[in-house]
Amino acid sequence: MNADTPSRTAQWVCWMRATESLRPEGSRVLDDPYARGFLSVFGRTQLSLGNLPIHPSVNHFVVCRHRFMDDALGQALDHPAADEPPLAQVVVLGAGYDSRAYRFADRLAGIKVFEVDHPATAARKRSILAKRQDVPTVDIEYVTIDFQTQQLDERLLSAGFQKGARTFFFWEGVSMYLRRDAVKATLQTLAELGGPGSDLTMDYWFYLDHPSVSATAMRLSAGFLHLLAEPILFSMHPEDCPDFMRKNGWAVAAIGTAKELERRYLPDGRRVYPAGYVVAAKKA
Ligand SMILES: C[S@@+](CC[C@H](N)C(=O)[O-])C[C@H]1O[C@@H](n2cnc3c(N)ncnc32)[C@H](O)[C@@H]1O
Repeated sequence: MNADTPSRTAQWVCWMRATESLRPEGSRVLDDPYARGFLSVFGRTQLSLGNLPIHPSVNHFVVCRHRFMDDALGQALDHPAADEPPLAQVVVLGAGYDSRAYRFADRLAGIKVFEVDHPATAARKRSILAKRQDVPTVDIEYVTIDFQTQQLDERLLSAGFQKGARTFFFWEGVSMYLRRDAVKATLQTLAELGGPGSDLTMDYWFYLDHPSVSATAMRLSAGFLHLLAEPILFSMHPEDCPDFMRKNGWAVAAIGTAKELERRYLPDGRRVYPAGYVVAAKKA
């Protein structure tokens, strides 16, 4: 991404959450009351027009992955395994306009939240939040980083992260923009930082290897992101995911494929972009 420009894709996915939140209660996958406030004037106009030049299935993937991750956090908070220590910290990597710290504020009492992001995106988020009156008080630390050039462990530890404490890591909408080495290094670092019982939920992309026209169009959509200066770099076949994760310190507990996300969250028949996957894993 460009060094001085807040992430455009962070606004896009925020727009998708804002759009989903406008759906009637009972038919929406999630409700993110903060999302609209992070949109630019253009984004708000698009919100009122109800369109974004992107295939609806991508929109559905983005809101379903967010809900899948919300549910994973809810599970860790509400149903901890008997042999696991209580959750001590939450880390949101590439936080963008994620509002979980505020949406889960009541249930995160006593749990420190670290939001880690590129300085340009983090600065825009903080300046918008500073103008709002309705944001709950949370124990949150904003940690700036460039994942491509800076050390995540150093940045987190200098911000007060407790190495070895049970941690819930979110890594949403980021891995696909990094080189493979950076993805592996990040997974290994998280496994070293998090204590026993730590959780990780992340998503990843796979370039569909089907010869159909629609699969070809979806492969082209990855190239389109290059125009936003956020090209897709990392891709992984879902069959390789458990082994890849295990080698890098994480045991996969669940994979949200498009079919699984549709089954869980979209009884109304909406379809999920089939090249996106979301994973819940435990420290191995
Ligand atoms: C698609 S957005 C996802 C934001 C958020 N996780 C969500 O799902 O709403 C990608 C995020 O990764 C961050 N990001 C991308 N490349 C980065 C880098 N090299 N270093 C730090 N953050 C980066 C962007 O600032 C942005 O917030």
